[in-house]
Amino acid sequence: MVSTHSIMATALACLAFSVAPVTATTYSMVKQYYGSTFFDEWTFYNNYDNLTNGDVVYVSAQNATTDQLAYVDTSTNHAIIKVDNTSTVVWNNKRNSVRISSDDSFGVGSLWVADIYHAPYGCSVWPAWWSQAAVWPQGGEIDTFEGINTNTQNQMSLHTETGCTAVSQNQTSTLVASTNCSYAANEDQGCIVTDPSTGSYGAGFASSGGGAFVTEMASTGINIWFFARSAIPSSLSSNESSIDTSAFGTPVANWPSTGCNITEFFQPQNLIFDITLCGDWADGATWNSTCSGICYNNWVMGNGTDYDNAYFEVGYVRVFSTEGTNTVVSPTTTGSGSSSTTSGSSTQSSSSAGLPHGGYWMSATLLVVVGLFSALFTLA
Ligand SMILES: *[C@@H]1O[C@H](CO)[C@@H](O)[C@H](O)[C@H]1NC(C)=O
Ligand SMILES: *[C@@H]1O[C@H](CO)[C@@H](O)[C@H](O)[C@H]1NC(C)=O
Ligand SMILES: *[C@@H]1O[C@H](CO)[C@@H](O)[C@H](O)[C@H]1NC(C)=O
Ligand SMILES: *[C@@H]1O[C@H](CO)[C@@H](O)[C@H](O)[C@H]1NC(C)=O
Ligand SMILES: *[C@@H]1O[C@H](CO)[C@@H](O)[C@H](O)[C@H]1NC(C)=O
Ligand SMILES: *[C@@H]1O[C@H](CO)[C@@H](O)[C@H](O)[C@H]1NC(C)=O
Ligand SMILES: *[C@@H]1O[C@H](CO)[C@@H](O)[C@H](O)[C@H]1NC(C)=O
Ligand SMILES: *[C@@H]1O[C@H](CO)[C@@H](O)[C@H](O)[C@H]1NC(C)=O
Ligand SMILES: *[C@@H]1O[C@H](CO)[C@@H](O)[C@H](O)[C@H]1NC(C)=O
Repeated sequence: MVSTHSIMATALACLAFSVAPVTATTYSMVKQYYGSTFFDEWTFYNNYDNLTNGDVVYVSAQNATTDQLAYVDTSTNHAIIKVDNTSTVVWNNKRNSVRISSDDSFGVGSLWVADIYHAPYGCSVWPAWWSQAAVWPQGGEIDTFEGINTNTQNQMSLHTETGCTAVSQNQTSTLVASTNCSYAANEDQGCIVTDPSTGSYGAGFASSGGGAFVTEMASTGINIWFFARSAIPSSLSSNESSIDTSAFGTPVANWPSTGCNITEFFQPQNLIFDITLCGDWADGATWNSTCSGICYNNWVMGNGTDYDNAYFEVGYVRVFSTEGTNTVVSPTTTGSGSSSTTSGSSTQSSSSAGLPHGGYWMSATLLVVVGLFSALFTLA
């Protein structure tokens, strides 16, 4: 939803600033989530979706394993993260799904890559690959990959405290929906850049084998690159331990430090995969223009065959630090209260900010009201 105000702000920003170059940096690999150990260092949310009001229960690590909602496919070595498509959901119940948050967090000077072969799509489905700091909105949020329903284009966004804006963006996308990153502006939609490629989300993304998302959180700015599978740079596909962002070309989305002091607005980020159903965005104002019926009744309820495409298939997640630094913050060194990284831990991350990412079109007050309302109706 593009407001007139944000279009004007964009136009003014374009007039007022010349475009700054995207600075190239060399990074070294510091962390890899891959193969049989992929799920070892993540916390499963283990609670119903009380963050974005979706109609799902985010299962525990144990249930995710038992019910095969999070597992490593032994034939491909790819990690699968999925919505339950085998159970029949009756009125008042929610459908099982998964939300995982990395135990480690990664500070300014980090770059992370997710190689994704398939991502969830279809009516009522709302997946995201994103990150946020332990304290939100103070520590910031980066939404690298997010979409809903039958949309075909990935939507990227930052969410911050007031004072961070998108100006002088040197990026391949021309689709700038909003430029004020403050959670307090425009009902927390963030500063949104949409990927012009219809292969960046949905059926098009899946049919071309997905691709690699690179998120760079540098003091000079935040950048996101999306490479379709056929165009993944060799440093990534050949698993080089050192990569140089100058080989990546211009990012699809860029938020330079000119308009947003990255070290001021961003703290170490926990990486998150989640899939919810309906909720604040998927069942919001655009539901009727993308899908039919009533989101919960006609899609979530029933035998689950609507969710055969509601899964992530992830080749790997790798994290890099600026050459010569180590930006990894592990839970034991932060003292943030997160449990030590036992595999299969099912406690909810105490570092989870507990507020919606992409909490579209709703004020915090309204969210509380709607939350209570849906809790009464769906759990009573
Ligand atoms: C885990 O599975 C058990 C047994 O089916 C169930 O009682 C429990 O509610 C589930 N917990 C979650 C968070 O899904
Ligand atoms: C961004 O939104 C916040 C909260 O509404 C407001 O205080 C601030 O002035 C806005 N910034 C710009 C550049 O418009
Ligand atoms: C990628 O390289 C790292 C060492 O740099 C190694 O630990 C890891 O196993 C490699 N991954 C794959 C998928 O080959
Ligand atoms: C934008 O960034 C690219 C590198 O990604 C650089 O080559 C180019 O000069 C920059 N454009 C401008 C107008 O600064
Ligand atoms: C950016 O924020 C950091 C940390 O708050 C501060 O030290 C620095 O001076 C700020 N830079 C600018 C250009 O304002
Ligand atoms: C979609 O249309 C139905 C039927 O016209 C209506 O009841 C519902 O409120 C609409 N949903 C939204 C999110 O506007
Ligand atoms: C699942 O439910 C749909 C809609 O009610 C129905 O068309 C379909 O045949 C069912 N599939 C199975 C495998 O029962
Ligand atoms: C669930 O979806 C998977 C693909 O994600 C498919 O292989 C499987 O057959 C589906 N299960 C049922 C019961 O439809
Ligand atoms: C969500 O539920 C968990 C577990 O009950 C609770 O700790 C957390 O504060 C809740 N978050 C929100 C935003 O309500």
